[in-house]
Amino acid sequence: MKDKPQIDDKLIAAANELTKCFVLSDDKLRQLMEKLEQEFQLGLCNEESATLKMLITYVRHLPNGKERGQYLALDLGGTNFRVILINLNIANAPMVSQKFVIPDELMAVDGERLFDFIADCIIEFTNNHKLETIRIALGFTFSFPCVQYGLCQSKLVRWTKGFNCSGVVGKDVVKLLKNSLKKKTQFNNAFVDIVALINDTTGTLMSCAHKNPNCNIGLIVGTGTNACYIEQLDRIDKWPSNYSDPKTVVINTEWGAFGDNGVVDKLGVMTKWDKLVDADTVNPGRQLYEKMVSGMYLGELVRRLLITLCEQKLLFNGQTPENLLKKGSFPTKSVSKIDSDSESNKFQATRRLFDRDFTKTYTETDLRIIHMANNRVSKRAADLVAVGCSTLIEHMANQSNTIAYDGSVIKLHPHFHQWVSDGICKLIDKKKRFEMMLSEDGSGRGAAIVAAVSYREKRPRIIIRDRKVYEIGTYIH
Ligand code: GLC
Repeated sequence: MKDKPQIDDKLIAAANELTKCFVLSDDKLRQLMEKLEQEFQLGLCNEESATLKMLITYVRHLPNGKERGQYLALDLGGTNFRVILINLNIANAPMVSQKFVIPDELMAVDGERLFDFIADCIIEFTNNHKLETIRIALGFTFSFPCVQYGLCQSKLVRWTKGFNCSGVVGKDVVKLLKNSLKKKTQFNNAFVDIVALINDTTGTLMSCAHKNPNCNIGLIVGTGTNACYIEQLDRIDKWPSNYSDPKTVVINTEWGAFGDNGVVDKLGVMTKWDKLVDADTVNPGRQLYEKMVSGMYLGELVRRLLITLCEQKLLFNGQTPENLLKKGSFPTKSVSKIDSDSESNKFQATRRLFDRDFTKTYTETDLRIIHMANNRVSKRAADLVAVGCSTLIEHMANQSNTIAYDGSVIKLHPHFHQWVSDGICKLIDKKKRFEMMLSEDGSGRGAAIVAAVSYREKRPRIIIRDRKVYEIGTYIH
């Protein structure tokens, strides 16, 4: 029989002490729910002064599954930009899409250059797929906070997730895109009807609601985090219009900003590592809840925590691996890898990862401490998402709720989804029920569905061009 590995219990106890601020008691989670509900209420009254904007999306009609036609969808919200062609005429028809990597420098240039780049991508795609002669409706998933004045009039409130292009905040994003498209002479812009601008949470909700009408929440835990839900018009103080049917609208909470007014820190939930990560972003003091939860930041949080453990001589005998000092050296997919390990598999994935990226000199105790620190950061993130979802479920009158979800963290992390689900079970009223439904490419399909639903209401059935009559969505030969 092999000897049991030597474990230094004192080091483990000290690391436990240092990292236990990431463990949130049920009581703390409930206090967070209470605060979040207050912030929801403030946002529903007036978004100017509120921290959580609770943005009206103008998406009011859920899909009925009968949406038909061929649509273009754009998806901008992370490091990639996608153009997608979706055919809703055929059930489960494969989507044709093309991914374009957004060069780092474009994330912080003059906005016009970003939209020119997007226009170029659209042109490349439509040329590749011989769409230049189609009149086609387009839904744009733009996953940043936008105040909307209608389904396709909006104003960007602020950039998030590392974007910081000048000249876009306060502007109408659809107009900016149209201007860039117009500049490209070879592109016959008249044929692309931008009919809807949506957030990825709305897309996620819509793509699932297309199959399951019980869906009432759209959740994203990916590069950023956010949720939307279906609200009753008479509960929205700031609703600008009449209470016509359907008496509901999708609200984009923009919950990533929870805590930007200090309420989360006041509850003692933010750690010094959260503050370090926040200080090193392009938007310090903003999106504080998102920075405790989402893929853009989780790896950084763990990296900073591991550095402190080294500095306090609780890890690697006090020797900080050089690469660990580099920002971005510990991406969130490493967090997932480590969480997929356990003592029973002898921390194989963690060993491989550290051998490759940081150091080959570690002890069994080091591996346990890394595992504990990593797990505390990711489990807290899942607990915070459970707080968000539970607050929404408690906020709505529905007894039965379906959460449509998407995003790399909740999809790819080995336990995140289960942790969120367990957390919600614990936090909501026992009489309420919920289930979670994975959205299949909500950002793409959702935008097409919203475009289709809006066309269902008011699309011009035909267009006349060169004295010929064409039905929308059909090829013009
Ligand atoms: C950020 C954006 C939000 C988006 C979320 C998920 O929080 O502000 O609009 O929904 O990321 O992508």
